[in-house]
Amino acid sequence: MDHFNYVDGVLHAENVPLTRIAAEVGTPVYVYSTATLTRHFKLFQQALDWSDHLVCFAVKSNSNLAVLKVLADLGAGMDIVSAGEYARAKAAGVPGERIVFSGVGKTAPEMRLALEGGIRQFNVESEPEMELLSEIAASMGLRAPIAVRVNPDVDAKTHEKIATGKSENKFGIPIAKAREVYARAASLPGIEVVGIDMHIGSQLTDLDPYRQAYAKMAELTRALRADGHDIRRLDMGGGLGIPYRRDNNAPPLPIEYGQVIRDAVGDLGCEIEIEPGRNISGNAGILLSSVIYLKQGEGRDFLILDAAMNDLIRPAMYSAHHDIVPIHEQAPGASVAPYDVVGPVCETGDTFEKAVELPNLEAGALVALRSAGAYGAVMASEYNSRPLVPEVLVHGDQFAVIRARPTLEEMLGRDTIPEWL
Ligand code: LLP
Repeated sequence: MDHFNYVDGVLHAENVPLTRIAAEVGTPVYVYSTATLTRHFKLFQQALDWSDHLVCFAVKSNSNLAVLKVLADLGAGMDIVSAGEYARAKAAGVPGERIVFSGVGKTAPEMRLALEGGIRQFNVESEPEMELLSEIAASMGLRAPIAVRVNPDVDAKTHEKIATGKSENKFGIPIAKAREVYARAASLPGIEVVGIDMHIGSQLTDLDPYRQAYAKMAELTRALRADGHDIRRLDMGGGLGIPYRRDNNAPPLPIEYGQVIRDAVGDLGCEIEIEPGRNISGNAGILLSSVIYLKQGEGRDFLILDAAMNDLIRPAMYSAHHDIVPIHEQAPGASVAPYDVVGPVCETGDTFEKAVELPNLEAGALVALRSAGAYGAVMASEYNSRPLVPEVLVHGDQFAVIRARPTLEEMLGRDTIPEWL
């Protein structure tokens, strides 16, 4: 459930008509709902209320400081993958002890930054990374708390570009090597083992891959404890999918996911961490856009929007579907026609979706691409020198611009022409 609904025939974000945001901020623009972010975060809290837990929001899915602040104020932890995301989590008020550092390519400066500023744990993905981390921590007179990310070799049954838990993926260490790697960890002066980490992929719509992975995690916990390691935290990763279509095929709910975790590892007495991103932010955002032209092609009509693949790359990159709906509600029984909905970028791949059934829309009409709060603005670029898309946060009947649209001068001002030219 989200908070984007038609009221008196106009799509609203909470109590704000999207027509108002379009008039005051212009389009294209991302619009997020505080109530939806809050609701989704709390669903995960409730799903784990049987245990000590920390819900670490995956900052990569939406890293706007205002969005992070909404979640930080609710007590969220953050799952981060770079110095930039660490800085954002800190700037949003998240203390180091609620920040988990994931990612296969952490650099020495990033490790130092996190050790200096405070960190809950590093999710270590390889032995070379662990050796470097130990060296850096020891040189600072510290021991870095770590969980080793273990790759359980489970098929997450999701898009191949976002599956991470198979042995051929670059993530984690093979589960067969785990005991050996933990033994090495225990011998390193700058490392303190605190737990185990797994993340098998994103947009999972079936709980079975989780069941398989978490059974392996439980088994590994027992084996490592028998080897003398103090495994007290389990990071179960993120990845629970969201409904991108409003039909009856909704993925499992957080409460069902929480039960899977409980069934698998609930008896181990560990603190539970999870790293959901999309499930918290995805349906808390839409991309609001205007129709520039209606163009009649041969055998098909194109709706050319002012949003493009540089603003929302998921359809071009993963053939992802985002519901496209008019802001002015379609009257019941009104005639619809199929449109290929495209952006202005000079690539055929700049197509949001083909043959979308929409009512007759004129130039200037507003549409929303739904479920765009995760991996939307964060993956935007300035391709075709289109300034980065702005962001707005709604709260009840108020809204604020939380990232302004850069002017052309600001965009150009970042380049420099060397004096010898
Ligand atoms: N933890 C780790 C270690 C991750 O790599 C990810 C996502 C998450 C948590 C959060 O996963 P979520 O709950 O959001 O599914 N750009 C792609 C998604 C890439 C996901 C990368 N890792 C997309 O637009 O579908």
